[in-house]
Amino acid sequence: MLGYKMSQIPGSALSFAVLFTLLFSGRCSHQVPLVMWSSEGHALPRHAPPLAGHTVSGPQLLSYLTAALSGAPHNVLLFLQDKLSMDDFTVFGGVFGNKQDSAFPNLESALQSSTFPLVLPALSWPDSSALPGMLQEQLGTAPLYLDPETLAQLRLNSSGVALLVFRLPYSTEADMMSPRAVLRGNDEVVGQVLNIMKAQGVPYTAVYTAVRPSRVIAEGSLDGESVGRSLLQASSNEPYPPVEFKRGESTCILLWAENLTVSHFREQWRRHELGPQTFGSSATVSLTGSSCNRTHSRLVLNYENVLGFRSFRLIFSMSQRYYSVSARNWFTMDQVELEYDGQRALFNGSRNIYAPTEYSYRCESVTSFRDALLAAHSLTDNATQWRLSFEEFQIQGFNVTGTQFSYASDCASFFTPGIWMGLVTSLLMLLVFTYGLHMIMQLRTMDRFDDPKGPAIAVPQNE
Ligand SMILES: *[C@@H]1O[C@H](CO)[C@@H](O)[C@H](O)[C@H]1NC(C)=O
Ligand SMILES: *[C@@H]1O[C@H](CO)[C@@H](O)[C@H](O)[C@H]1NC(C)=O
Ligand SMILES: *[C@@H]1O[C@H](CO)[C@@H](O)[C@H](O)[C@H]1NC(C)=O
Ligand SMILES: *[C@@H]1O[C@H](CO)[C@@H](O)[C@H](O)[C@H]1NC(C)=O
Ligand SMILES: *[C@@H]1O[C@H](CO)[C@@H](O)[C@H](O)[C@H]1NC(C)=O
Ligand SMILES: *[C@@H]1O[C@H](CO)[C@@H](O)[C@H](O)[C@H]1NC(C)=O
Repeated sequence: MLGYKMSQIPGSALSFAVLFTLLFSGRCSHQVPLVMWSSEGHALPRHAPPLAGHTVSGPQLLSYLTAALSGAPHNVLLFLQDKLSMDDFTVFGGVFGNKQDSAFPNLESALQSSTFPLVLPALSWPDSSALPGMLQEQLGTAPLYLDPETLAQLRLNSSGVALLVFRLPYSTEADMMSPRAVLRGNDEVVGQVLNIMKAQGVPYTAVYTAVRPSRVIAEGSLDGESVGRSLLQASSNEPYPPVEFKRGESTCILLWAENLTVSHFREQWRRHELGPQTFGSSATVSLTGSSCNRTHSRLVLNYENVLGFRSFRLIFSMSQRYYSVSARNWFTMDQVELEYDGQRALFNGSRNIYAPTEYSYRCESVTSFRDALLAAHSLTDNATQWRLSFEEFQIQGFNVTGTQFSYASDCASFFTPGIWMGLVTSLLMLLVFTYGLHMIMQLRTMDRFDDPKGPAIAVPQNE
């Protein structure tokens, strides 16, 4: 059940959906990921990766590039795909250590064998389209557009300077190939190019990114609430680290959000923003009661004096298990719970909030009322008096390494209204088609008129 992801959604429905998303949402978030690494034996300089939820802008990208190229080889390979989003990595990439079902086996092994590769999950677009120009300026050489065959005939100077660009496709509408197949084909090209470089003994620095995002993520498009780009950018200028629960020495739960808003209804709605109490230097939250083991993680945020309640707890419960359909472990966020002065309100999330166990789950907006990612546990539960709204939400409760989130599995592309409209439309068409087919099959039973053994046709006579 949980194995359904992009690959099962028909391409036409998807493009349809994206079209809808474009039509129905004024504001869109455009981001592409960027991966940079250097050939074996040539480390990129050590760098602090951007904090969770942070979108890297053009000037920041430039400083990353300058730092990287100061030490790394100046033969630069730029793999520039038509489109790419972080989802492509999370949906089609392999789980670490298991490359069989990955669409990026060559990319993954190149990253594994390089020292300090740079992964920027969210590079703001169109800043990203300035990349070839930035590289050209940094290197002081014009780009050379190539394919692997031409590269094989080229003699590169191993201490020289070159900017070699390989354009990779991502069109799924025209040729009806699944995105996975296209990405797999592109990865093959990456593998060929890297092998040629290796065979020629030329050290290189490689960049894999895209001209455009492959998914357009609508931002708060269902109502008029203004969570504009400017606000997001203004606050991401002062990013703060995630909340971190440690078991012993090692971190086992990470949580980050731009906003954690709770609203309670008693005669009228009153809202409270828990963000400042939870994150950053003014945080007063305590994590007493949190726990984690191999299969269950529970993050308890304890507050005082929230909306008139002396003690107030916000609890996230997650579990992970193996789902044989997708042959992979997934974690689900089963419950979000509020405990306030001895009372309890329960929200279910398990059907909607999930990600591969090794990844983190990220969502631009998780609410109990707008997108219904969280549902009141029952119609009589106290949860109906509460509204939860988490913006730029990211959580990971399993396989945390260090104090950083793993790759993010993003909810957005699966829950935009456009996707649903696309899906519903496809389903409707399928229904109409099935009904038509059914009718045609029914027609064939008319053959029985010719069957002499069948009942005779009685024509009533009016005397
Ligand atoms: C490679 O480039 C370096 C510096 O630009 C130059 O000194 C050297 O002669 C070049 N080698 C070849 C084989 O062209
Ligand atoms: C999100 O949090 C910031 C800082 O705490 C606050 O200024 C902003 O109003 C909040 N946004 C929403 C939509 O609640
Ligand atoms: C993990 O914790 C959950 C409850 O928090 C418990 O039900 C489960 O048995 C524990 N599993 C292990 C392997 O300790
Ligand atoms: C729900 O709230 C009511 C009053 O608001 C309280 O009496 C009841 O105990 C609560 N239910 C639970 C399960 O905590
Ligand atoms: C919430 O989850 C419980 C089991 O965990 C289930 O019994 C209940 O029906 C769910 N409620 C909704 C509204 O999905
Ligand atoms: C994830 O963590 C579990 C134990 O917590 C471990 O058994 C498993 O191998 C880890 N998976 C990966 C891919 O690191």
